[in-house]
Amino acid sequence: MFPYLLLPVLFLCPASCTTTRRHAEPLHQDLVTQLPGQPSVGFRHYASYTTVDEKNGRALFYWFFEATSGSDEKPLVLWLNGGPGCSSVGYGATQEIGPFLVDGEGYALKFNPYSWNKEANLLFLESPVGVGFSYSNTSSDYDILGDSFAANDAYSFLHEWYKKFPSYRNRLLHCWRELCRKICTRVGRADL
Ligand SMILES: *[C@@H]1O[C@H](CO)[C@@H](O)[C@H](O)[C@H]1NC(C)=O
Repeated sequence: MFPYLLLPVLFLCPASCTTTRRHAEPLHQDLVTQLPGQPSVGFRHYASYTTVDEKNGRALFYWFFEATSGSDEKPLVLWLNGGPGCSSVGYGATQEIGPFLVDGEGYALKFNPYSWNKEANLLFLESPVGVGFSYSNTSSDYDILGDSFAANDAYSFLHEWYKKFPSYRNRLLHCWRELCRKICTRVGRADL
């Protein structure tokens, strides 16, 4: 395992950490229950890896924020930072439009009053592999990265993600990207 694969483990506290909490329904396996320095909020957020290619061992990392209110009614926004090669967690989620911005000192998170999750459910995807926490266990994958490759992985990601969040399957999907139009085109054509 590459050393950087350990980072998300430190960064996220999986649902299993909170043995003292009692819920009527089982907690979603990807629910983030606590982040260091996170302000308390009334919406849920989720993060994890989704495998997009089992043979080569490719997995994309996502961070998903429900809307602050009425999440059942609001659309789903898939956010991809551009570059290409910019992290959607490092930029979009924590410096631009996400609900938790890293504070000036870098020690804690502060609530972003202009977060887009006031209007939509926000899904940040780290794409393609090699960006942010997303990775491949097959080194040669990194030699063939390109728009089509990234678009196909994003498509596979969304297909798998809907299995984890089936209630979003029929939700209006807005795909926002800084540059990589091909990815949104591929996802938009998806028969998921
Ligand atoms: C990549 O390899 C690590 C270490 O063997 C393994 O734990 C992980 O599940 C693999 N990832 C995928 C997507 O298969």
